[in-house]
Amino acid sequence: MKPVILIAAIDNDRGIGLRGSMPWKIPGEAKYTAQRTLRTSSPDMINALIMGRKTYESLPPHRRPLPGRHSLVITSRSIGEPVGVATSVDEALRVCGEMSDVESIFVFGGAEIYSQALAAALPDTLLISNIPGHYGCDTFLDPIPSTYRLERTSNHKHGTVMVRHETYVRDFGKE
Ligand SMILES: NC(=O)c1ccc[n+]([C@@H]2O[C@H](COP(=O)([O-])OP(=O)(O)OC[C@H]3O[C@@H](n4cnc5c(N)ncnc54)[C@H](OP(=O)(O)O)[C@@H]3O)[C@@H](O)[C@H]2O)c1
Repeated sequence: MKPVILIAAIDNDRGIGLRGSMPWKIPGEAKYTAQRTLRTSSPDMINALIMGRKTYESLPPHRRPLPGRHSLVITSRSIGEPVGVATSVDEALRVCGEMSDVESIFVFGGAEIYSQALAAALPDTLLISNIPGHYGCDTFLDPIPSTYRLERTSNHKHGTVMVRHETYVRDFGKE
């Protein structure tokens, strides 16, 4: 089984989005997300990103699909772009699981996709970046289920912003 990793950034209200976009612009944090999702153990391997249609469409047209990773967009419609689509989180995971060059599968958002993945305890690991402050978001990450336990934390300063990175792992004793 390939590792399934949920990656999300939240503010102090668990907010993740505002009017269909990211609520903050923190270049160092965007770079962290890119580096973490690009990293593989060998140059022959690549990671996959599974994301909801709204998150995919929130990316600038010239930046989608994001380079260096397989993208799979979850949608019930035809989106008319050269990117793989799936009709459910389960199907997206199955398709990525069958790709021989895919090392890890990242659950990339947004809220609907995070919610479905967390409700079914599909991710093995959660990478949560805590952005300090209240951004008046309209889209939120569900509370982290008790089936996950906090394994480690680290602090990263991006300019004047101190971001706390948390890593949660699924606790098999609680499943
Ligand atoms: N802070 C972060 O780390 C982070 C990360 C990612 C995204 N975001 C933000 O999150 C927001 C978007 O989140 P969102 O919850 O509104 O949208 P989303 O989860 O990105 O996409 C929702 C869409 O996904 C499709 N979908 C969801 N579940 C499905 C299912 N079971 N079967 C088939 N299709 C399904 C539907 O597309 P169709 O309508 O086409 O059927 C639905 O409209 C944006 O503001 C974005 O910037 C934040």
